[in-house]
Amino acid sequence: MTDPLVIFTPSGKRGHFPVGTPVLTAARQLGVDLDSVCGGRGICSKCQITPSFGEFSKHGVTVADNALSDWNAVEQRYQDKRGLKSGRRLGCQATIQGDVVIDVPPESQVHKQVIRKAASTRAMTMDPATRLYFVEVAQPDMHTPTGDFERLKRALRDQWQVADLRADVSILSKLQPTLRKGNWQVTVALHQDHTGTAPRLIEIWPGLHENGLYGLAIDLGSTTIAAHLCDLQTGDVIGSSGVMNPQIRFGEDLMSRVSYVMMNPGGDVEMTTAVRGALNDLAVDLTNEAQIDPSLLVEATFVCNPVMHHLLLGIDPVELGQAPFALATSDSMSMPAAQLDLTAMNDRAQVYVLPCIAGHVGADAAAVALSEEPNKSKDLALIVDVGTNAEILLGNTERVLACSSPTGPAFEGAQISSGQRAAPGAIERIEIDPTTKEPRFRIIGVDMWSDDPDFEQAAAATGITGICGSGIIEAVAEMRMAGLLDASGLIGSAEQTGTPRCIPQGRTHAYTIWDGTADGGPLITVTQGDIRAIQLAKSALYAGARLLMDEMGVDKVDRVVLAGAFGAHISPKHAMVLGMIPDVPLDRVQSAGNAAGTGARIALCNITARAEIEQTVHQITKIETAIEPRFQEHFVAANAIPHATDPFPELAKVAALPNPSFNSKGEGDGSGRRRRRRG
Ligand code: FES
Repeated sequence: MTDPLVIFTPSGKRGHFPVGTPVLTAARQLGVDLDSVCGGRGICSKCQITPSFGEFSKHGVTVADNALSDWNAVEQRYQDKRGLKSGRRLGCQATIQGDVVIDVPPESQVHKQVIRKAASTRAMTMDPATRLYFVEVAQPDMHTPTGDFERLKRALRDQWQVADLRADVSILSKLQPTLRKGNWQVTVALHQDHTGTAPRLIEIWPGLHENGLYGLAIDLGSTTIAAHLCDLQTGDVIGSSGVMNPQIRFGEDLMSRVSYVMMNPGGDVEMTTAVRGALNDLAVDLTNEAQIDPSLLVEATFVCNPVMHHLLLGIDPVELGQAPFALATSDSMSMPAAQLDLTAMNDRAQVYVLPCIAGHVGADAAAVALSEEPNKSKDLALIVDVGTNAEILLGNTERVLACSSPTGPAFEGAQISSGQRAAPGAIERIEIDPTTKEPRFRIIGVDMWSDDPDFEQAAAATGITGICGSGIIEAVAEMRMAGLLDASGLIGSAEQTGTPRCIPQGRTHAYTIWDGTADGGPLITVTQGDIRAIQLAKSALYAGARLLMDEMGVDKVDRVVLAGAFGAHISPKHAMVLGMIPDVPLDRVQSAGNAAGTGARIALCNITARAEIEQTVHQITKIETAIEPRFQEHFVAANAIPHATDPFPELAKVAALPNPSFNSKGEGDGSGRRRRRRG
């Protein structure tokens, strides 16, 4: 008689096994992804499976009710203590008695797929560098003297096929009491990455450790630092938080921070200390909030631009401020967190910094590439990660180009007269009636437009405090569509525009969105200076994209992906009216949320992805905007709204742009001349 046939779903792997073989053993022999921390001792419950019974014509088997061994005492004990979902069995306890179809639920797979909650639904696969192993260690014996660590090593080799374990002195000092406390049964956390280095002992707990392992995925930006606290076993994001980068006090943008180092010897050390301090504070906040012991934070991944990269690692960034923009290293980096003074984590936590692409194109661009995968896109995708520096990628399966463009902080609401961070009370959406020129808006925290009769009451708690990044983009685009702004970016006077909301301000004008001064609130306006700041930012973004398109030899792209901390909130139509992005059909503009942060998360959860991005960065062609003369040409032409020369036929289908021409006297000005020349 042939041995029973065992079929695993969803993998479809199948094989014959002798009666009495535990399901976990069959799974391992077939290479089925079935988890186990305790190695089949019936205490971790990671190996749960669901047998199916009855007729399976698809597989050609009939599964009898007794295809698996009876429910045993170990399963009963687990059921009494924790409860098992109905129909579930422990794979290490149930043995095969007849032909059977066995489903491995997602939570029992080591390489489980996690669907991201962000705009994109691409699945993420778990394959973390740090994992838990439960082991039984032999007790010491006077007649064959060996050290406790050597016996732990042997146990890991015999029970888990883990060879060549390494350990720091700091963990060796914990080893002896923990082994004895656990009665020679312990759980260890081992770190082994994709580079083939020996596994390293990170932590040890007596008995079965059931409180999980965690890691931080950190997007270290010039203006903000955003971190996700992730469960390293499930991939879940337990908490997210962001703080301002304290280096701002040394300079708003990257080049001013590099100049600070040039002018002030030791300035780099000051900035390194500041950012590391902020990272520790962020880790403390996140673990406190999630009520997680900081010693369970065993890993962190970092994505950042080259200057932030050097300042995090404690490397002087001066070389990055001048051609040829040489990085100290562009490769990925792995190191103990202690080397970066990250004290709010486990003492032996490990850090992985994604590789940089070039002197101006950093690990943040690499992370965007990892998250959005332009190299796997059949159509030509333009991906812009909007921040103080814009990371821009253009590519498809054949070729990927990347550059970084200095947009400045205007898109994040900084250097804008009424600008503020995205927080309750900030105007985030705005519409201006093209006939009456009256605005209506929405603020963060209130779910209605400002012309709703209940708005004032609903907004009382937060007040109306300013305009955030997505709000300022919409405001400028709406002003352009309502004819309050001409193509050169000049705001008209009350007489020119026909609305008293355009108020004089020195020799220029400002448009009033909200006047709360009667109640002691702010006067929220869009000033000529604000328009200029947005024009500079959007010109830099567009010029970077155009430069990549030139290099690729194309005049248009198939789709645009808007990413960045607030990328998901930017309205595609408004971005195009402004001329931030090249003309494409509006339904070909997608939002990807914080792609750099997502890339950091993928690298945190999956070491195969680390190997992949290290490969990919070598295939990306880097374009240095700073030394490219055409960048300046594109920048100047992109100053007009939406653009001085490039046509926007798709935009014309969805938005009418009036063509006023303002100057201080109300007569035709330079922008009008430029338009005439073009015509
Ligand atoms: S493998 Fe741990 S309970 Fe089955």
